[in-house]
Amino acid sequence: VDISGTGASSKVTATLPSGESVEVLLYGATVTSWKSSGGKTENLWLSEKAALDGSKAVRGGIPVVFPVFGPPPKSGHATSSLPQHGFARTSRWEFLGKSTSEDAVDASGSSVKLDFGLYSSGLSEEARTAWPLDFGLVYSVTLSKDSLSTVMSVRNEGETSFEFQMLLHTYLKIKDISKVSITGLLGVEYVDKVLNASTHKQSDAAVTITGEVDRVYSSIPQDTTSVLEDGKPRFDVVRDNLSDTVVWNPWTEKAKAMGDFSPDTGFKEMVCVEVGSVNGWQKLDKGEVFEGGQTIKSLL
Ligand code: BG6
Repeated sequence: VDISGTGASSKVTATLPSGESVEVLLYGATVTSWKSSGGKTENLWLSEKAALDGSKAVRGGIPVVFPVFGPPPKSGHATSSLPQHGFARTSRWEFLGKSTSEDAVDASGSSVKLDFGLYSSGLSEEARTAWPLDFGLVYSVTLSKDSLSTVMSVRNEGETSFEFQMLLHTYLKIKDISKVSITGLLGVEYVDKVLNASTHKQSDAAVTITGEVDRVYSSIPQDTTSVLEDGKPRFDVVRDNLSDTVVWNPWTEKAKAMGDFSPDTGFKEMVCVEVGSVNGWQKLDKGEVFEGGQTIKSLL
């Protein structure tokens, strides 16, 4: 494990003896790179113009969304004065340390777990004022030979209960969006944010992407959403205690309109499959803990 950079650009890198690696920026505890196949395959898309200096949320990798997904409710909710996707992705987290294990389940051998923490006391004055609740987040990033797990635990450290949403905004790197299909969502209801937030039921076994897509699938019964390329399995995204998943691709116009999205044609090489709890709210009473996350398997 190597810690490099200073201030907001500090990052933690871990490499397995077999060459696989993961890189986590302390800003947002954003995973900015995950390489498998002995280090040969990058699995995460990262914009060429992503800000990596703490000036804004990272465009790519795995930004952490907490305590609200998307634009917060206009008024009347404790999260109402927060920015889109909350403050976790724009706060500087602490590196809590690493642990290694000979993973008995994973016959391939070793794995390394990196823990990151964010507490109400570590928030910017602005975020603290907007959401004055006492919490502790521990985000664990575990690199194994063919998979990456990212799991968040949320603890209510205060006297009053609070409500939150969370989501792991993963930008998966793919070769050609026209050859991608996403399965594991058949029969699931989704809100289509492109089509005026109307509700639909997924009626095709595979989701293909031929234009802007921004869908919030909720209460998904099965744990795994699969991404195939050219009909071959590329990624399995396995939900752990999270039942919602957003599928997002900005396509031509939206990609061009985002100043930090580069190249403009980058939308052809990415798809966001974002696991979370974003339909309604998770409620935590004093002292309670919620834990949820994902395991992404790279199937090359
Ligand atoms: C997705 C949302 O999760 O994130 C989209 O469903 C949104 O609506 C996208 O456009 C990117 O958000 P941001 O704040 O990183 O530009």
